[in-house]
Amino acid sequence: MYIILLGAPGAGKGTQAALLSEKRKLTHVATGDLFRQALEKGDELGLKAKSYMEKGKLVPDEITIQMVLNRLAAPDCKSGVLLDGFPRNLEQAKVLDKALAQQDKAIDKAVYIKVSEGELLKRLSGRWICRNCQTPYHEVTSPPKARGKCDKCGGELYQRPDDTVETVKKRLEVYFAQTAPLIEYYTGAGKLLEVSGEGSPEEIYGRIVSALKPKK
Ligand code: AP5
Repeated sequence: MYIILLGAPGAGKGTQAALLSEKRKLTHVATGDLFRQALEKGDELGLKAKSYMEKGKLVPDEITIQMVLNRLAAPDCKSGVLLDGFPRNLEQAKVLDKALAQQDKAIDKAVYIKVSEGELLKRLSGRWICRNCQTPYHEVTSPPKARGKCDKCGGELYQRPDDTVETVKKRLEVYFAQTAPLIEYYTGAGKLLEVSGEGSPEEIYGRIVSALKPKK
């Protein structure tokens, strides 16, 4: 299965991807995480992406698309993938469709997690991320058991530099201009599933699972 998680910054794509990938045995491919990991390692890819990410802009397609196609060719992606943060504009969506079609594959569903703007801002301002495994936490709604430490791997938690008020505003602007049109694209393809992203992560997970169930 190839499933896309669509939604604004802070909608809970990473949170739901962690739950879905574990329970459904799908490989979680998150473009933001790939860029951040490359940056941590000091790789050229990360350094190229850095200036765009800190301004809240999209990393250019020629960098992003190749990185994702390389990742999708890895053996752990053969039996199913959960795409988080990709595609993020129409060009990326079309290239992805073409690349999958060349292997007789296709996107099965695009799950759009819908959250109000006020809630997005609250979520991003309180977010902490594991430097090692990228698991997201929230200082109010899902704090770690030990302050500053990841429950899963013990890694150090940090706040993303692009979660400042200014950069979040820019990321939302970019989302509405470039990514939101994908809702129409996948609706037209008969693949869009819209779920409310408000409520607890477990409630939202339940909605996604029931939306993904084949309809009789
Ligand atoms: P990326 O890392 O993909 O960021 P994003 O899309 O802005 O999404 P976020 O990671 O901010 O949010 P999320 O929806 O995953 O929410 P989360 O689960 O963490 O991209 C970063 C940058 O990389 C981009 O700006 C761009 O520069 C570049 N980039 C990435 N992909 C690209 C592409 N395809 N093309 C070009 N450039 C690209 O949750 C947020 C917070 O809310 C957490 O604290 C969490 O604990 C909390 N939370 C989650 N669910 C709930 C809930 N139900 N109730 C209360 N709190 C909740």
